[in-house]
Amino acid sequence: MEKTFLMVKPDGVQRGLVAEIMGRFERRGFQLVAAKLLQVSQEQAERHYEEHHGKPFYDNLIKFITSGPVFAMVWEGDDIITLSRTMIGKTNAAEAQPGTIRGDFAASTRLNLIHGSDSPESAEREIANYFSPDELVVYTKTIQNWIY
Ligand code: TYD
Ligand code: MG
Repeated sequence: MEKTFLMVKPDGVQRGLVAEIMGRFERRGFQLVAAKLLQVSQEQAERHYEEHHGKPFYDNLIKFITSGPVFAMVWEGDDIITLSRTMIGKTNAAEAQPGTIRGDFAASTRLNLIHGSDSPESAEREIANYFSPDELVVYTKTIQNWIY
């Protein structure tokens, strides 16, 4: 099983969309591994978005992600990185399809509600940026037999 890091951004927390967003991943059949509400530090934000350092939107992105609490999560499932990115929708607000989280709730490319890892390497790095290994909960859900 693959793990991914998902995070409801400050706009999602402020708008009361945490449960709506979590619910989509729960109903899809993914397994929750860890979750917490936290304030992203400047250092965590810079590590999180290091690939975007120097881009025109970088400063606003760091300001936004540190502007209020976020809801950080680790989820597990077969091919979850690809599947969750599909559920999240396109980065560009104009291209995010209805039915996706961004396409249903986000009207801007910057205030786009949720982050999701884009590769196994990013997932590993991002999980370690927000969670210690002992916060990842290992357990068996019998319902998984009806999903895979
Ligand atoms: P990116 O990693 O390209 O998108 P995604 O979140 O879909 O993986 O960019 C990170 C965030 O930076 C994105 O969620 C919103 C912000 N951003 C902008 O504000 N303007 C832009 O033109 C881009 C590409 C991203
Ligand atoms: Mg990205």
